[in-house]
Amino acid sequence: MQKLFSSYTLGNIELKNRIVMAPMTRCRALGNIPNDLIASYYEQRATAGLIITEGTSPSPNGLGYARIPGIFSDAQIEGWKKTTDAVHGKGGKIFVQFMHTGRMAHQHNLPQGAEVIAPSAIAASGQMYTDSQGMQDHTAPRAMTAEDIVSTKKEFMKSAINAISAGFDGVELHGANGYLLEQFLSPSSNQRTDEYGGTIENRCRFVLEVVESVGQAIGMDKVAIRLSPYGVNGGMVPYPEINDTYTYLASELDRLGILYIHLVDHSAMGAPEVPMAIKQIIREKLQNTLILAGGYSKETAERDLQNGLADLIAFGRPFISNPDLVERMQNDWSINSNADFNTFYSADEKGYTDYPAYKAE
Ligand SMILES: Cc1cc2nc3c(=O)[nH]c(=O)nc-3n(C[C@H](O)[C@H](O)[C@H](O)COP(=O)(O)O)c2cc1C
Repeated sequence: MQKLFSSYTLGNIELKNRIVMAPMTRCRALGNIPNDLIASYYEQRATAGLIITEGTSPSPNGLGYARIPGIFSDAQIEGWKKTTDAVHGKGGKIFVQFMHTGRMAHQHNLPQGAEVIAPSAIAASGQMYTDSQGMQDHTAPRAMTAEDIVSTKKEFMKSAINAISAGFDGVELHGANGYLLEQFLSPSSNQRTDEYGGTIENRCRFVLEVVESVGQAIGMDKVAIRLSPYGVNGGMVPYPEINDTYTYLASELDRLGILYIHLVDHSAMGAPEVPMAIKQIIREKLQNTLILAGGYSKETAERDLQNGLADLIAFGRPFISNPDLVERMQNDWSINSNADFNTFYSADEKGYTDYPAYKAE
């Protein structure tokens, strides 16, 4: 029997299929507030078993990119209600991804009074886009003090409570792709000499404390995390103790009762492959759900569900250009593989809500 289209119980929610829409930053949140356009985009894709929103900041300091949404203000909570109502109205489920950009930021993208902060004062390599001055080098971060660590954890907690008020079914913490949480995990971005840096236990401490605080705030059955071992986004580099770091992290996340780990392999996008050994270690350590993502087709998704490697499979780019991806896969209709890169991060409906469903083509 095919697994991809079968239902799945995730904690205390029932998913109608095992297809997850991967989190994708789309930069349509003018003023960092989710709007009607964003609600329509997710509503169009609500046949996915689970939608994970674009990276959404729990703090003004985490709004490193232009036009990404937040979830720390009342206006943002109200804005997100439009999306959660629209998705739930179509029988879908939706988690919000908490993305604190840390050093993957430019000061011009941040609101007034906010600061680029990171575990250590080491700038991310490369450049990023700003609406006011085009491409710019990443701003060098200020190293977080002990007080910043405490206040940032509180921001995650408060935002998790906001997420539940906004109607989300749960929260996925972005521990992948070189953002704040991964900046703590990796010795290349974390050179702290206090209890948050150095040993594996110390580098994992901030991530685990955030998971624990968010779990205390909303219940661990609503808290999940995304990880990308071997990812190179944001100047991340593999390090000798990388497998041991993720082995320890996975067992601690399991001990805390994390709802799922969402493991992303960006080799389809040019990053080194996540070795099968580390996928299997995480699978073994984790009693709860494992989601895999990165370069999947209907066939490879079904294969990895059948062989027990994953419980759910996330699709990213195919959901950009196919609002009805689930129906297309279910009916063996053709898939539009021409997602237009030029409108991935632009500001309006073009390349966002105007991809047609199959029947309308
Ligand atoms: C436009 C775009 C934006 C993305 N933004 C995010 C993001 O906000 N958070 C995240 O964890 N991954 C993000 N990703 C990565 C995707 O979630 C996914 O892992 C990646 O596209 C690989 O899956 P795919 O081959 O199915 O597209 C983004 C990818 C794309 C194409």
